[in-house]
Amino acid sequence: MSARQEASTEPVKGSALPLPPGPKGHFILGVMREFNNDTLGFIERCRDFGDVVRSRFLYVHAYFLYNPDDIEALLTTSAKSYRKAKSLRSPFFARLVGNGLVTSEGEFWRRQRRLAQPAFHRQRISSYGDVMVEYAIRQMHKWQADAVLDISREMNRLTLEIVVKTLFNADVSKEADHIGAVLSEVVKPFASQATLKWIADNRLPTPGHRRYFNLVAEIDRIVFRIIAERRASPSDEGDLLSMLLEAQDDDGTQMTDSQLRDEVMTLFLAGHETTALALSWSWYLLATHPEAEQKFHEELDEVLQGRRPKVEDLPRLTYTERIAKETMRLYPPAYAVGREALEETEIGGFRVPRGSQVFAFQWVTQRDSRYFDNPEAFDPDRWTPERSDKLPKYAYFPFGGGPRQCIGNYFAMMEIVLLLATIGQRFKFSLEPGHKVEVLPVLSLRPKNGIQVRALERERLSATNLDTVSTTSR
Ligand code: HEM
Repeated sequence: MSARQEASTEPVKGSALPLPPGPKGHFILGVMREFNNDTLGFIERCRDFGDVVRSRFLYVHAYFLYNPDDIEALLTTSAKSYRKAKSLRSPFFARLVGNGLVTSEGEFWRRQRRLAQPAFHRQRISSYGDVMVEYAIRQMHKWQADAVLDISREMNRLTLEIVVKTLFNADVSKEADHIGAVLSEVVKPFASQATLKWIADNRLPTPGHRRYFNLVAEIDRIVFRIIAERRASPSDEGDLLSMLLEAQDDDGTQMTDSQLRDEVMTLFLAGHETTALALSWSWYLLATHPEAEQKFHEELDEVLQGRRPKVEDLPRLTYTERIAKETMRLYPPAYAVGREALEETEIGGFRVPRGSQVFAFQWVTQRDSRYFDNPEAFDPDRWTPERSDKLPKYAYFPFGGGPRQCIGNYFAMMEIVLLLATIGQRFKFSLEPGHKVEVLPVLSLRPKNGIQVRALERERLSATNLDTVSTTSR
């Protein structure tokens, strides 16, 4: 189904089409203040100007797209007219992920994507299922019944260990808390992107700048250590790092340590926090929606009968999968995607000049009442095929789309459903009274002060198999 009823026009270059409307903002700063004071509220309010909205951050012109057809064109049909947004080229971001898959462009990106793709094929990913379940069981062994936990911290630790084990066949369980803490410090300055402080810290040797670079250097040490260990004892572990280590150009040259470091760091970052957030917000929504929680438990008990979940169970864990999808509708871990126009284009009848920054917001479009009935309600059953088939394709795009679509989307969906099932068999969570859960859009959509819950042991079915942590992992 198309979101815009009238036929959408092909991009026309050099046309005399009008520029779209938008908030005027301060004569120098543009909309920087409004955006920083309340990022999510601001991007929601901008929709009142129409489906294509123009705004300005200091000297940078930004265009916001709210119509699924336009979002589809941005990410898929007109993808060649764009590159990744300028914000991904900021010195802070560049220092963090360098020229890895998320940020690279052109032929270099195509080659790296070709090399990495086999590691993410469904079949290969399926072999990671047992590791995911195993690590979840280990993690649960550390939880006492009735203990108070910050579930977002717990999920972060778990998904960090899983991504490092599955993609790099390395175990960081001893250091996971430390790495998690450093990574979480590193992304903090991104909460104030588009402020003057951000611009200064990125470019000048301020205390914020120095602190940031020191933190990244600390993660570098860990990543270079993982690479050095593997170079020292080369063996085909069949994981992503082996593939990248062995990959050769036509002239026989191989990736340098720093190229490898960029890819490892990218997957390290892209591959765990997003998934941890989808899980954390799922536990939050289940804790606040007892009917959905009840249906979730019924499905687990019926399908699993108390045994550990396996990849083969996934097709029958349909309600659990709907919980994951609905959670990522309401709390999309990546709440925006951004591009820069490489040429002048037309979007929704408006002119978008070359060099413009163009954004689509999962946070806004996935809560738009034009596409979703009762959009603020947590309703996993809106993802039954009968109901979801009616949606415009890009009304829901938690993993982006087109050539730059998330390479880890199957990995993430499998991980979310398996971890929800493994943990949900044993525990349910209740929100701690008095703890206010708030969203904080940093690089991703985080809970500002974590999510404090009490871990309640579910009345056991025959969850005996969960008691034993097997020593074999992949
Ligand atoms: C719920 C979990 C996840 C969400 C919501 C998510 C979201 C996204 C989105 C929206 C993009 C596209 C960005 C753009 O178009 O500008 C993306 C790209 C990417 N994601 Fe994910 N992601 C998730 C999990 C993962 C995992 C588990 C991995 C790896 C293990 C991963 C690795 C990547 C990479 C490498 C890219 C860049 C792909 C390219 O440009 O070729 N992501 N992700």
